[in-house]
Amino acid sequence: MSATMADAKKRRAAEAALEHIPAGSVLGVGTGSTVRFFIEALAANPGQVRAAVSSSNATTTLLDAAGIPVLDLNDLADLPLYIDGADEATRAHHLIKGGGGALTREKIVAAAAARFICIIDESKLVGTLGAFPLPIEVIPMARRLLVRELEARGARPVWRQGFVTDNGNHILDVHGLAIADPPALEGELACLAGVVMVGLFARRPADLLLVGTDQGVITV
Ligand code: A5P
Repeated sequence: MSATMADAKKRRAAEAALEHIPAGSVLGVGTGSTVRFFIEALAANPGQVRAAVSSSNATTTLLDAAGIPVLDLNDLADLPLYIDGADEATRAHHLIKGGGGALTREKIVAAAAARFICIIDESKLVGTLGAFPLPIEVIPMARRLLVRELEARGARPVWRQGFVTDNGNHILDVHGLAIADPPALEGELACLAGVVMVGLFARRPADLLLVGTDQGVITV
């Protein structure tokens, strides 16, 4: 699939999300190219959102440019809705996220939100998670330790060299996983010393998937 075709599907899913946002809402906003289309759609519909909680520095820059006020999550009593993309998703709404490296703040905002709508193009809908390498944000001093721990589990972690997260940490992209039980693996990996966040979103899955296709948008 060419980048342009994928972009058209991402844009379709992003624009469909607008229908799920009550006018004047405060919502959480994810990170990535699909979310960029979503922010463009918000900018074209002023008043749809009153303010947003951002999941990354990159998204904050886009929200600022769109004229959407960015709030600190700590200043809100609740957050009704979170909109974000994903790298892979299943029909059970389990996700792999973090291809853009923003998984930690994304998972925090998703955890805070009452509802999480995930916007993807159809190439990301899979039967089993794991063809896309699983991103894990790690404390830099624990990187080699975690490489050994993950290799001992039969996986192939690759350090995303030259990349530092918004939180000052490193990313390991973990290849070779066929994730049969996403909530169990998420819990297991999250307990390893030095892991900041695992890019599996299974214990707090999406509530709804909006999947952009050639024909339109499918709701899963
Ligand atoms: C960012 O860290 C990710 O979790 C993104 O949500 C994910 O990588 C999807 O990105 P695209 O919308 O660019 O495909």
